[in-house]
Formats: sequence, structure tokens, C-alpha cells
Amino acid sequence: MLVAGRPFRSIWPAEDGRSVEIIDQTRLPFELVITRLQTLEDVAHAIRDMQVRGAPLIGVAAAYGLWLGLRERADERHLARIAETLIACRPTAVNLRWAVERVRARLEVLPSSEWLEAAFTEACRLADEDVATNAAIGRHGLALIEDLYRQKGAPLNILTHCNAGWLATVDWGTALAPIYAAFRAAIPLHVWVDETRPRNQGASLTAWELAQEGVPHHLVADNAGGHLMQHGQVDLCLVGSDRTTAEGDVCNKIGTYLKALAAKDNNVPFYAALPGSTVDWNLRDGIAEIPIEERGEREVLRIRGQAGDGRVVAVRIAPEETPACNPAFDVTPARLVSGLITERGICAASREGLRGLYPENAK
Ligand code: MRU
Repeated sequence: MLVAGRPFRSIWPAEDGRSVEIIDQTRLPFELVITRLQTLEDVAHAIRDMQVRGAPLIGVAAAYGLWLGLRERADERHLARIAETLIACRPTAVNLRWAVERVRARLEVLPSSEWLEAAFTEACRLADEDVATNAAIGRHGLALIEDLYRQKGAPLNILTHCNAGWLATVDWGTALAPIYAAFRAAIPLHVWVDETRPRNQGASLTAWELAQEGVPHHLVADNAGGHLMQHGQVDLCLVGSDRTTAEGDVCNKIGTYLKALAAKDNNVPFYAALPGSTVDWNLRDGIAEIPIEERGEREVLRIRGQAGDGRVVAVRIAPEETPACNPAFDVTPARLVSGLITERGICAASREGLRGLYPENAK
């Protein structure tokens, strides 16, 4: 997608042939900083500190991390250690494990002398596949948006939570891919962007992406969604997912569940957009079984922003003695989800719906 009119991906192999480059998402929206990752530890740090984030992107970053780790040594024990390190970086998004296991499976059939080249090729393949997958999600979601627009006959208001745009993937995004496709198809639309406390991915990333592409949007406080829905100002909620169970429960950024409840109460369609790699086919009950990442209290107790003199600063917003709790994701039960938009089409958020699109994974 575009940054200052120039096409970008969120991650790419560097020209030196020995490293990868990323857009450092902790610096947006105030600065566009490109950071070079040269080692396994650089990649692990980038994932943990959320310089790269979003389920599909951390999967691809981990695949490159595996390649960089193999540059140190290519043997079984080291490969196992690399995989363990990467998978442990963030516990909720299943794409991380999926991508690492996919590269490992590719290596297992080869002699270790060929691992380095094969890991790089597979990481690049994963990155390209992610772009194609998200473009397909965009096409399927476009059909849904076209339908809603035909029914309404007036500009559509779409509410999104967190950042499930191109920055959360290699390109296009998941929840934002249908929005970009609809915008390019000249369907009149406007996006409500939840700020998404505590890290404000909506304010700093989604708003930035939409502004770069020229998509009309307003930032709203996380608490505004229910009110907007009660007053007929939301035609569709569209979110991403970090892990979806085989029964269609959707785990996504903390606060998603509250939006789904409000959507249900106000008859607003609530869709999650996700690639097949986000489905955890082993899980049935998202609330009981999905590990929810607990992040540090600083993210809740402090807020980052730009001061009047241009400096980016973090300020404390609660009393010194107040501790904070910071669960990073929540689970929206399938019964609150109108449908899942995938690269293979749209299905019901249910075992039958997912089985129809992914028969090879059905148990
Ligand atoms: O903690 P983050 O910023 O990695 O969480 C990201 C999200 O919750 C996204 O909605 C999700 O990864 C969907 S991916 C396109």
C-alpha cells in the first residue's frame, strides 16, 4: 500500500542478502523508520516489542527470523531452539507457530547443508502468499460491502478495531483489505477507527494507513462504538483475528468482544476477516482454550504522544501507586459473529462453515 504515494510492504529482504528490513511500527504515526534485523535475537525483540505486530506479519517475520537464526548454525538442535524462541515471543496469534512449523517442515526433507537457502526461499514464499491471500480476502469482502451498499443506497459507515490493515500483514491487511478494495471500486464509505487502548494501534496505525490511502475516516474513543450503533451510524463492524477456533470463536484485540455485543444488540453485521492460517483446528472453545497474552502494566499506565514542540513523549495517566492489568486479547463467541471473510470466501462462524471452505482441515 502507499506511504507518501510510494508503494510499501511491511517487511522485505534487505539488499545485502543477509538481513531483513521492517517498518518500525512503534515509531508511527510520527516517524517512518525503517529498521534492519540481522539476527534471530533482532527478530525476537522486534516481535516482542511490537516493532512488527499483527498475526500474519509476526508469522512472516518469524519465518525470516528462522532463516537468520540458521545463519549462525544449521543443525537439528539449533533449529529446535530457534523455533522455540520464536514461538514463545507472543502466545496468542497462532500464525506465529503456523509459519515456523511450515518452514521447519520444508527443511526436514532436506540435508542441513541446504537449509539456509531453503529457509530464505520459504520465508519469501510465505510473504508473497500473504499478499495474495489478503488480496483474495479483499475481493470476497468487497462483495459483502457492495451488497450492503446496494441495500442502503447511501455511503457506508464501517467500524474497525485495532489495526488489521496492511501493517498487520505483509500487504493489504485482513479487515482493511475489503475496505481498500471497496474504496478503489468507488463505493462511498467512511471508517470509524477505534483508538484501541492501551497501545492505540487504531489511532497510530489504522488512522495513518487510511490517511495515506485517502480513505475517509474518523478516530473514535473505544467507548463510542455502542452509541454510534444505537444511532444507526454503523452499517458494518469489520475486525481481524489472531486465532479463530474450529467452531468459529474469534480471538482478537482486547475490546473486540464488547463491539460484538453492541453490534448484536443493534442488528449491525459483525464480520471477522482472516486467512486460513489463523484458524486453530485443534481448538473448540475459544474462551477456555486460547492463551491470552498478558502484557506489561506500563502500556496501560502510560500513554505515548507528540508534544507541542514535536517531541514524542510517554506520560503517566494514573497515580504512582495504582497498578494495572493488561490482557491483550479477548474472545468473541461464534454466536456473535455474522460471518468469517477468508481467502476462500465467506462462511458462517461455525464448524460447518469452516469445514465447507477448508475440507482438508476438518476433523
Ligand atoms: O497486539 P497486536 O497489535 O499484534 O494485535 C493485532 C490485532 O489484534 C489484529 O486485529 C489482528 O492481528 C488481526 S491481523 C490482521
